[in-house]
Amino acid sequence: MASTTPRVPIPANGVDYRGKIVLAPMVRSGELPSRLIALKYGADLVWGPETIDQAIMGAERRVNPRNNTIEFTRVSSNGGRPDMPKKENVIYRLDPAREKGKLIFQMGTARPDYAVRAAKMVAADVAGIDVNSGCPKPFSTSGGMGAALLRTPDKLVSILESLVQEVGIPYQIGISVKIRLLETPEMTESLVKRLVATGITGLTIHCRTTPMRPRERAIRDQLKMIVGVCHDAGVACVMNGDVTSRDQALALMEEYGADGAMIATAAEANSSCFRSAAEGGLLPWRDVVEAYMEEAIRAENRYGNTKFLLNMMIQSKDNSSKQAKQAKNYLDVCRLLQFDHLIPAAKEVDKILGLADRPTISSEDGTQPSAVQKAKENNESARAAAGGSTHLKKQPPTRESPGPIRTNSRASIPNSTSQTEGDTTDEITASASIPQQSPAVAV
Ligand SMILES: Cc1cc2nc3c(=O)[nH]c(=O)nc-3n(C[C@H](O)[C@H](O)[C@H](O)COP(=O)(O)O)c2cc1C
Repeated sequence: MASTTPRVPIPANGVDYRGKIVLAPMVRSGELPSRLIALKYGADLVWGPETIDQAIMGAERRVNPRNNTIEFTRVSSNGGRPDMPKKENVIYRLDPAREKGKLIFQMGTARPDYAVRAAKMVAADVAGIDVNSGCPKPFSTSGGMGAALLRTPDKLVSILESLVQEVGIPYQIGISVKIRLLETPEMTESLVKRLVATGITGLTIHCRTTPMRPRERAIRDQLKMIVGVCHDAGVACVMNGDVTSRDQALALMEEYGADGAMIATAAEANSSCFRSAAEGGLLPWRDVVEAYMEEAIRAENRYGNTKFLLNMMIQSKDNSSKQAKQAKNYLDVCRLLQFDHLIPAAKEVDKILGLADRPTISSEDGTQPSAVQKAKENNESARAAAGGSTHLKKQPPTRESPGPIRTNSRASIPNSTSQTEGDTTDEITASASIPQQSPAVAV
């Protein structure tokens, strides 16, 4: 007998989440170079970092002629300071060739009309639009976005229905949502039942409740129920939370009946986790960093963001690695890590991004960085003078404030995106403004 299981049709320009192991949306960590290496290592689909509706609504779309990426840009007012020159920010960047049919744009929103306007900006360039309904940070929830939407199901339903009708259908792309668990299975079930009736093609369940911290283990006891509700409505269900490799993802999908699995933190550290054991499994960090650097240079990725990722990815504590994490431009990183073939392109991108004049900590041959040597000598002298051990000054934490591309106040968004490609500060920030005071990531 033929199966009567319903299936929400997958639109012509959309993508079916079934059978897919995907890269999670990650502010800061999910910019273009990270997505491209995730795809290189076998991710089936990639979610972009959450981008706030108002940030993308007023952006300008253009093609970067040097690398053929599509950039959505805005001019910042530099906090309204008339003495400072205006800067252009790249709010979102995608690769139309290599991400074709594989990129899901994730949005932070609390208004159906804004959601639709923002989605229309990117709809022709992506395979799907996803609504973030799981970020628990106050700067998200206070604007009614992220996890706050879990408490305002009428609003969330109306956002999804508007997106399906006004963007999904005309542009023929899928609309989906990413949620967290509610306190009880009954509450989760009744929410999921409403969401899957909106016309969405996929639902991702992050198997943690809103108050849970990222380090707390994912809870999977509601997962089969959620999968069942999705399947009854013909919607694909993607599981997320403590999935760490392709093989484990496939085993978990089998165990819980989920259609797909999403990987965040494991991929942030080493995206070769998308390779199966049969394909060789996890690669050494150096290989992955080299691949990442190649893409970051090609994409003209904002250096502060690249530096943030290097801090996640470099696993060695040797001197050159430590210095590479502190480097101020692409050239230094390539010299220190001896990625010699990337040096000419690194020089070029440093010029484009305005990083070429930064003080260098590497030497031409890359083998004995003079400043590193000097620092070592100073440290030796200090140690000798102190008659014992001295420690290098502790570096500030590098993960203090990842958060979505957003501003503190929705009303101020058009003027408040901040960092630019050529930004000469050493701050490690996402491609638009992020409240620096926000603590660890828990979106
Ligand atoms: C650096 C970072 C940034 C994140 N940004 C987002 C985001 O923009 N949107 C979102 O829905 N979730 C975001 N998350 C949450 C992840 O997508 C994922 O749900 C969570 O990390 C659990 O997956 P994991 O256990 O594989 O890490 C972020 C997580 C991290 C670590």
